[in-house]
Amino acid sequence: MEGYIFDWLNMFLRWFHVLAGIAWIGASFYFVWLDLSLEKPSAENEAKGIKGQLSAIHGGGFYEVVKYKLGPQVMPANLHWFKWEAYTTWLTGFSLLAVMYYWGANQYLIDPAKVAFSQWGAIGSSVLFLAVGFAIYELLIKSPLRNSNKGFAAVLFVVLVFSAWLADQLFSDRAAYIHVGALIGSIMAGNVFLGIMPSQRELVRAVNAGETPEARFAELAKLRSTHNNYLTLPLVFIMISNHYPMTYGHEHAWLVLAAIGVITGLIRHFLNLKTQGAGVKPAYLIVALLLTLALAAWMAPKPVATTGNVINSDQALHITHLRCAECHAAQPTSDMFKTPPAGIILEDEAHLLQYKDRMISALQTSYMPLGNITAMTDDERAQLIGWLQAQ
Ligand code: HEC
Repeated sequence: MEGYIFDWLNMFLRWFHVLAGIAWIGASFYFVWLDLSLEKPSAENEAKGIKGQLSAIHGGGFYEVVKYKLGPQVMPANLHWFKWEAYTTWLTGFSLLAVMYYWGANQYLIDPAKVAFSQWGAIGSSVLFLAVGFAIYELLIKSPLRNSNKGFAAVLFVVLVFSAWLADQLFSDRAAYIHVGALIGSIMAGNVFLGIMPSQRELVRAVNAGETPEARFAELAKLRSTHNNYLTLPLVFIMISNHYPMTYGHEHAWLVLAAIGVITGLIRHFLNLKTQGAGVKPAYLIVALLLTLALAAWMAPKPVATTGNVINSDQALHITHLRCAECHAAQPTSDMFKTPPAGIILEDEAHLLQYKDRMISALQTSYMPLGNITAMTDDERAQLIGWLQAQ
């Protein structure tokens, strides 16, 4: 029953989280595009204090959008704020993290071969990891470093790569990536909550009072939103990384993530320049592509040293019965899984052949057995891979 409730919560929260994330990132993409695409206002609009204007057609209608230098003379009764998209994404994301990695800590968070945490020890470390990472970002953005774009980007990159390395030491491979993602997501939601919202409230207050808002508020909000802009693409990769054990299961998974961070950052920069009308600078895309190819070549799996003699199919089945069938059976005996995970049953030779490639990848990356809960030995792993490769 517990496993069944776990699955439903997991499914509902993931669906909600993705939905909220689409709304947040979608609105943010739209506004970045809008800001960078504004045209010079007409003389009539300029007289009204309008900074830029834009016409668009979408969904069978024409739209006229204008952006004020400061604000409208009369504050509209309904001003849309776009903040709940961000907060909902964070709240559902943290709930999903709690269900999957805290409740399911033994399966998903803890890797006894790295640190043999107790469940509460692992949860405490996870919360501490996120809290300290978040605090470091907040300290940095309040420091003079924020005045240098390149300097800030470099320091933030080092901090995030270090966090990826640290998470890789502490948690299971898959949890390590998700923790970097949760940290980036928290930084981004924090940017909305601690920077962008207060500055917008100040803007509304000043416009209402007929004062000129202090420029530093707007500048800080702009800086935080630029950071969110660059963090989005790496974050979206981490959100889907769960599906790619070859990335988080790599022996230098944190370096793989750092490389993907650079590649996705370059793509974002290319898109920003293009929308800005700064001309298409294909060099950024070409470098991103070359880096991707280099990364793929570097990550290519090395042949596993097999013990010489390939085991026979009875021996292979003996290993899977011992180490996999608790979960991957038509009727699993595991406490957490009542139906075969990912629909994969590994009970006879035909099954092993059917899932050969996915098994090799899951075994080579040590993704399976999940959390090595069935205590598979390195010899068994090498023997099973050897047998699969010989088929
Ligand atoms: C504790 C339960 C458990 C054990 C034991 C276990 N698995 Fe899994 N396995 C899972 C779960 C859960 C998933 C689905 C994970 C996901 O959705 O990412 C999975 C997914 C897989 C996949 C699909 C991965 C993919 O996305 O391509 C393969 C292949 C696999 N397991 C093979 C194995 C093999 C081989 C063993 C034994 C050496 C094993 N598993 C032992 C729980 C287990």
